[in-house]
Amino acid sequence: MELVRGVPEVRRTVAAVRRAGRSLGVVPTMGYLHAGHRALIEAAAQACDEVVVTIFVNPTQFGPQEDFNRYPRDLEADLAVCEAAGARWVFVPDTATMYPTGPDAPATRVVPPASLSEGLCGAFREGHFVGVATVVAKLFALWQPDRAYFGLKDFQQTAVVRALAADLMFPVQIVLVPTVREADGLAMSSRNVYLAPEARRQALALSRALQAGWEAAQLPGATPATVREAATLVLAQASEVEVQYLALVHEEALTPLVALSEPGVLAVAAVVAGTRLIDNVSLGGAAPLYGVLPCEAVS
Ligand code: PAF
Repeated sequence: MELVRGVPEVRRTVAAVRRAGRSLGVVPTMGYLHAGHRALIEAAAQACDEVVVTIFVNPTQFGPQEDFNRYPRDLEADLAVCEAAGARWVFVPDTATMYPTGPDAPATRVVPPASLSEGLCGAFREGHFVGVATVVAKLFALWQPDRAYFGLKDFQQTAVVRALAADLMFPVQIVLVPTVREADGLAMSSRNVYLAPEARRQALALSRALQAGWEAAQLPGATPATVREAATLVLAQASEVEVQYLALVHEEALTPLVALSEPGVLAVAAVVAGTRLIDNVSLGGAAPLYGVLPCEAVS
């Protein structure tokens, strides 16, 4: 496995991959890799001849009040994960490489449609999805991958990236990989490291609310309203969880779900002891994304 840092090196590497007629998968990350990232890299390694993992804490997707400076970083541990999961290259650019004129300077940006980027997380993180779309477009332009791997935990991001690839005609297949969870249901996230034991316990309200919603959706006579109610009830019992949104939306259009016959995703965002967490579950699947847990209160 090799570290790649600069644009000329990327260009040479991509040209060599093309010349050899090999397929390339890219796994964009911000580092501090966990089992969810490992699943992305392993999926890429299975389907592609070569895999590059990109590690870049992208400043343009963080708001001024957000955790850019304290976002967890551990390159040595990340490299071990990449190697074990089958990556051939790890791209670790610095900010000047990705934003030659500086991250705040006027420069071309990729602006996703408002319908995908301004609701849900976008309503609480102004400019976030412009930052995500811009950096993902740069990574696609640099690495020209055949496939790119994204985790479904960042469900709104997957909708934004799918639209970006289609609208800007990148010849890349976007592959979405299911959320990996801790044994108790908590969705894996690099930000879980911020959670002290009590906050971590409170954070279980998110996955339990989604579980309750998913179960309600399986009942005869279920409607979008009954699903939301079931999930709301669980969140209401978690006193320390400040819910930002609980939404039942169409999985691609992100519009409010009208009927459960449509492909729906129940998504939640909440702040727990100062840490913002998100999670979601697809209602269309034959089974929940995690084992059935008792929907007990987290108070
Ligand atoms: O999901 C992430 O880690 C980031 O949003 C991404 C896609 C790597 C862009 O910075």
